Amino acid sequence: MTQALADMRRDYTRDGLSEAHAPSEPFALFRQWFADAVSTEQAPVEANAMTLATVDEDGRPHCRILLLKGLDAQGFTFFTNYQSAKGEQLAARPFAAMTFFWPTLERQVRIEGRVVKVSHEESDAYYQVRPLGSRLGAWASPQSKVIRDREELQALLKATEERFSDTRPDCPEHWGGYRLLPERIEFWQGRSSRLHDRLNYRLQGTDWTRERLAP
Ligand SMILES: Cc1cc2nc3c(=O)[nH]c(=O)nc-3n(C[C@H](O)[C@H](O)[C@H](O)COP(=O)(O)O)c2cc1C
Repeated sequence: MTQALADMRRDYTRDGLSEAHAPSEPFALFRQWFADAVSTEQAPVEANAMTLATVDEDGRPHCRILLLKGLDAQGFTFFTNYQSAKGEQLAARPFAAMTFFWPTLERQVRIEGRVVKVSHEESDAYYQVRPLGSRLGAWASPQSKVIRDREELQALLKATEERFSDTRPDCPEHWGGYRLLPERIEFWQGRSSRLHDRLNYRLQGTDWTRERLAP
């Protein structure tokens, strides 16, 4: 087993990332790379899936996969339960890091910054375009809480279906979006022999600076 792990390696040769082809601010490059990922990555890879890391009050890190659901000039938006473990962590420490990995393209993007809640109106606008099952699930599931068994979840869902049998479910107050306002965005392109390209953008005041990092 240990030897098998030690022998697992791939050489990355698909592409490069040079300053000459990188814009002076990171959003345009993220949009380009994201479009590349959407057109290149095959199912079951979801191009908008990323790892979101948060820290708790004691400074301990926690990470999990989430789906990116919005990108605008301010930042990167995802949706979740505000009372979940990550919701509690973000209330205590409103900073996060997200990492995208697009394996076919041999690319990684790391984004770090402060996190703010989006308005209830913005959350509701997204909530209303979700499939009914997901909308009901947001009401029914006490995300991250201990439940007895699968039957308890099914009973919670049944009660929610009955509650909304005649009305359209609205977005719960305990569910909605967060926006990560980036202060650092790093683009990583795998290269041969582990001599990868890393271009790092840092926000200084209102301007982005770009620097190359050693792999
Ligand atoms: C592919 C994938 C996509 C996911 N997307 C979301 C999402 O958009 N929002 C969410 O709350 N949880 C999502 N999850 C579940 C989270 O990984 C996690 O289990 C959940 O949010 C609870 O995390 P927490 O206990 O740290 O708060 C997703 C999981 C996977 C594997």
